[in-house]
Amino acid sequence: VGSSEKPPVNRAKFATNLGVLAATLGSAVGLGNIWKFPYLTGSNGGAAFLLVYIICMLLIGIPVMVSELTLGRAARSNAIATMQKLSPARQPWWLIGAAGVLAAFLIMAFYSEVAAWVFAYIFKAIQGGILSTDPEVTKSAFNGLVGNPTQSLIWQWIDLAVVGFIILLGVNKGIESATKKLMPILLGLLILVGIRSITLPGAGQGLTFLFQPDFTKLTAASFLIAMGLAFFKLSVGMGTMITYGSYFRDDQDIPGTAFRVAFSDLAVSLLAGIAIFPAVFAFGYQPNAGPSLLFLTIPSVFASMPLGNIFMVIFFILTAIASIGAQISLVEVPVAFLEEKFHLSRQKASIITVLSIVLVGSLAALSNSTLADVKLFGMTFFDLFDYTTSNILLPLGGLFIAIFISWIWGYKKLSAALSNNGQLSNQGIIKVFYGTLLVVTPVLVTIVLLNGLKIIQ
Ligand code: PHE
Repeated sequence: VGSSEKPPVNRAKFATNLGVLAATLGSAVGLGNIWKFPYLTGSNGGAAFLLVYIICMLLIGIPVMVSELTLGRAARSNAIATMQKLSPARQPWWLIGAAGVLAAFLIMAFYSEVAAWVFAYIFKAIQGGILSTDPEVTKSAFNGLVGNPTQSLIWQWIDLAVVGFIILLGVNKGIESATKKLMPILLGLLILVGIRSITLPGAGQGLTFLFQPDFTKLTAASFLIAMGLAFFKLSVGMGTMITYGSYFRDDQDIPGTAFRVAFSDLAVSLLAGIAIFPAVFAFGYQPNAGPSLLFLTIPSVFASMPLGNIFMVIFFILTAIASIGAQISLVEVPVAFLEEKFHLSRQKASIITVLSIVLVGSLAALSNSTLADVKLFGMTFFDLFDYTTSNILLPLGGLFIAIFISWIWGYKKLSAALSNNGQLSNQGIIKVFYGTLLVVTPVLVTIVLLNGLKIIQ
């Protein structure tokens, strides 16, 4: 590691405990909960998938999150430099960080497009055209939007401009203060939509779908997808949590924070599921409608409640805000790297990053229109970026992080870091994490990955 990678003396830190929790939770909670979780659960059989997802969260997601936060705080650097600093000389563990920077771009490419749809829906809702319980009306509204190249691009640029602006403001003013205020409002509204949804006639079928497991529906592919979702949801496997961990204070309880973040995140996903699945069955949508599911069902739920249009406008505004918290954490990975590696100002690093995302992102934005017929491995760019990041890049990143922290960094350093040098009396928890990271997480990830990608049968 060259001296060029020393962090500035006055490197930013999250100022308060609440701020840490809000920023970390702000990274986890996003379109993953409101858009991705429902549509993947819907396409992979419902409750049985949910169960596999929760197991992956406990045995893989949370341990990797703890590892990343720990490594980031120990090195106080961006994802690549953290791995460089902490690894023995001449071992290429920094590649984990590099893969993370790549994943950040690829995820942002499609994520910013889904955020673009959300922004567009705020305006469609204000104009009043999409409020309907008729699947034909909601479908044609959605297809009209994603099939229009100009609109797809412009809304994506609007989203990226907003994200870029907040990133420019920096760690404390931008990330911490924005997320702290907005998370609670989103929760309240999700609860409201959930209540309306479960009181719809025919709602019971949706709850059965979400909570009564039918294991015959599980395939090797759905295990892989559940694991990929756990990585994506908790923002782990690509250096986001390394980067955020580098802003953690020395007295922050890392395992405690990780548990709180993971379970609050699960609660938000379940709320989104409760808001969406009863409506799927009540209005005659298909649970396996794919990426469009949110944009079809939500207008129908609101169409069936008083003052629905106003609430729908608020709902999409809050979803946009949740997506921004997650996008900030994605963009922060390359920005922190560029700043520290090349001594760029925050402004320059942010602008370079956002402009690069505009380029890659246009491939995803045009995937339902101009580039609909361009397919790699049978997928459009949008699907390819989505599939390969969650199901390949993040699991590989997580696998190597688990191996690194337990086998290479070792028990002594891990235990010192997780107990804040003996400040916390959590020896039992530390041993459980160590054992899990040493064996359980690597073995599980490897099996699910190989099996899901059909390398072994
Ligand atoms: N966890 C975020 C969500 O669910 C997405 C994300 C993935 C953010 C990876 C950062 C890193 O929306």
